[in-house]
Amino acid sequence: MADQNLMEKIVSLAKRRGFVYPGSEIYGGLAGTFDYGPHGVELLNNLKRAWWDANVYQKDNFYGLDAGMFKNPRTWEASGHTSGFSDPLAECKKCNTRIRVDKELDAIGVTADEKMSEEEINKLFDEHRAEIACPKCGAHDFSRVRKFNLLVKSNLGDFTSDGSEPVYLPGEACQGIYLDYKNVVDSMHPKIPFGVAQIGKAFRNEISPRNFLFRTREFEQADTQLFVKPNENKEPYETLKKERMDWYLSIGIRPDNLRLKQHANLVFYAKDAWDIEYNYPWGFDELEGIHDRSDYDLTQHMQFSGADLNYTDPETGEKYIPWILETSMGMGRLFLAVLADAYREDGLGGEARTYLSLSPKIAPVKAMVSPLLKNKPELVEKAREVRAALRAALPGVAIAWDDNGNIGKRYRRQDEIGTPFCVTIDFDTLGEKQELKDTVTLRHRDSGEQERLSIREVAERISRAIS
Ligand code: GAP
Repeated sequence: MADQNLMEKIVSLAKRRGFVYPGSEIYGGLAGTFDYGPHGVELLNNLKRAWWDANVYQKDNFYGLDAGMFKNPRTWEASGHTSGFSDPLAECKKCNTRIRVDKELDAIGVTADEKMSEEEINKLFDEHRAEIACPKCGAHDFSRVRKFNLLVKSNLGDFTSDGSEPVYLPGEACQGIYLDYKNVVDSMHPKIPFGVAQIGKAFRNEISPRNFLFRTREFEQADTQLFVKPNENKEPYETLKKERMDWYLSIGIRPDNLRLKQHANLVFYAKDAWDIEYNYPWGFDELEGIHDRSDYDLTQHMQFSGADLNYTDPETGEKYIPWILETSMGMGRLFLAVLADAYREDGLGGEARTYLSLSPKIAPVKAMVSPLLKNKPELVEKAREVRAALRAALPGVAIAWDDNGNIGKRYRRQDEIGTPFCVTIDFDTLGEKQELKDTVTLRHRDSGEQERLSIREVAERISRAIS
């Protein structure tokens, strides 16, 4: 069931609380672009760290990489993107709105194969034109379908004066891994099976960017490419699917909101493809692709570049082109899934409240420190001392300060940011009740419960919750 209302609430909270801003907003925006604000960048970095930990540090034989974005133009010919990376587009003749024909057909239960020629997709579209209305003006009057290439061009280096040989921005981040595969083999001497992990930017001229961070024109992909011996793909492919599902649970996503689905239609490079889907406010949709790419990529790059991309087994001397198993997760889609999953409303203390029930591991701020009253210098001074003590005890952990408005308002604000703990300094901390001297109030986000603890105990609680 689509929940447009929930989507609007998430978008509004994201902006109000400094998670995500529309791109170039003061100039009226730029479709399909967004910026991560102060809390957004913290959440994003925490998600990236959790992913990197699981896919580089916790795995045997996995190596990190950070490839540059500009690549020799041959890359995108070899990969198949200059010829095969397109979406079918039609334009409403009344209001000029562009639609993605495959998505519109899909919505009425008709499947358009990725590999269809322009002729074939036009024939299919003609059979169903009457059933498809323009999403903006409702008309049924569309142009012919044209296959629209999604690669984004740059003019880097001006290879030709007429721009006929542009240097493209990456259409998929993983090509950086394929181009460096030989360098990784020669410098790290990995034994097959081995993997390379990268979080990299991708750019696509999406016809209809939509659903906030779900379909944007600039985005990041967290990819792993596992290089295996030919025909030794089946078991590791199953393991990857399971590992990736488990990872989402480890960051607190609810299991009912996740599912694995096999692709009926395969993109040009894939032999088998599964999606991990998340139950977004509009229903289940793709969050991550898990692809069996066989020897497609390295064979293509070997042919186009002339470089020998064979792997030589160090023990047997056997030579072969490894097959590739890929996992590719969009960071923006993950970010949206995390917000949607954590979004809650309740009536804590008899008042309507909104909060993000984020796992403390990924929450942008781990704790907020606050003096009960901001106009009492002795409380402010003590609270600053407590913050400094927590910062020293928890290096690398975001501990915020908030003394704006009354304490109830501060708690509500932190609830919306998803801060798991609030630490309040009051007169008892100063020793008004001698037995409570140097203790503080620790308030828990989800339950609103409060307890009285020493500063050392608070640091331990936070440390345990985020580790
Ligand atoms: N290297 C494989 C690849 O690029 P893909 O299925 O096209 O495969 C992988 O993309 C993931 O990247 C998707 O599952 C999705 O999470 C993300 N993604 C793709 N297009 C996107 C877009 N326009 N906006 C945001 N994320 C996108």
